[in-house]
Amino acid sequence: MADITDIRRPDDMERITTPELAKAFIDEQVALIKEQVGDKKVLLALSGGVDSSVVAAILIKAIGQQLVCVHVNHGLLRKGEPEQVIKVFRDELNANLIYVDATDRFLDKLAGVTDPEQKRKIIGGEFIEVFAEEARKLDGIEFLAQGTIWPDILESDAGIKAHHNAGGLPEDMNFELVEPVRILFKDEVRVVGKELGLPDNMVYRQPFPGPGLGVRCPGAITRDRLEAVRESDAILREEFEKNGLAGKVWQYFTVVPDFKSTGVKDGKRTFDWPCIIRAINTTDVMEVTVEHLSDELIDHLVNRIISEVPGINRVLFDYTPKPPATVEYE
Ligand code: XMP
Repeated sequence: MADITDIRRPDDMERITTPELAKAFIDEQVALIKEQVGDKKVLLALSGGVDSSVVAAILIKAIGQQLVCVHVNHGLLRKGEPEQVIKVFRDELNANLIYVDATDRFLDKLAGVTDPEQKRKIIGGEFIEVFAEEARKLDGIEFLAQGTIWPDILESDAGIKAHHNAGGLPEDMNFELVEPVRILFKDEVRVVGKELGLPDNMVYRQPFPGPGLGVRCPGAITRDRLEAVRESDAILREEFEKNGLAGKVWQYFTVVPDFKSTGVKDGKRTFDWPCIIRAINTTDVMEVTVEHLSDELIDHLVNRIISEVPGINRVLFDYTPKPPATVEYE
């Protein structure tokens, strides 16, 4: 078997833009996976993001129950995400799915940690640890599947970032890699995902950082403030969906910073957090512009967030482009 790192996108490969091309790609990958894996087992960290979801769906088609998916809930996922992963993969695609709710582990480790890079390190490190623990409980796994895509390879070739996925697993966990979307660009992964029958809100999902809502709860994460981020984000996503903005705006989310201001509710003084709305457009995330919402939608969002989200008494809109402001707050 050739080394997987030898597999490169052919220069003359046609861009996958149609269901027919996607189907041909899927059939080819299914045959290759069957040949590579035989009757052995494959492990996959399934985050619910586009890439790992498409990899899971291709592998399920190829080897069914020989694929073991592990979905780690680090407690920093958006509202409804773990439930959707379970519904789509366990209930609908009959996947062999292990769901690990590691919320307490992550939040306990993060308690009191204010430095953004330290937070990222803890989240990344703990993720590997939880995943490795689950892997050790399983017998006979010889392969590790990953959602590496072509831009990841190009960036690691150019020295921009290390080839991200396998990075970090303990050295004794020596798996052979399976990377069925390795030669695809992101738009092609989406076309393939659609052809595999994955739901639109998974296939056309906006970018979401690995450290999740953790970077949208600036400073030391507390459960109550994290919940305010999660609930306000769910309202924003629901309203963007209803108003036809979900597929149009690149990225949109809420942030709940760690300070309080005075307000008044039902004739009583409140002392609560503000909720910041950020909605941006970009092509390459190096430079971003702000999506301007209608006054009517802003009024509606303010109204819903202050009345439905405990702990919020003000809503602010971030009108800052990048540069100078990055997309995320940490
Ligand atoms: P910034 O904040 O750097 O974000 O302007 C650019 C894009 O990258 C995403 N982002 C991350 N993604 N891990 C990720 O997987 C991270 O730590 C991370 N930080 C930022 C961000 O959401 C935006 O799309």
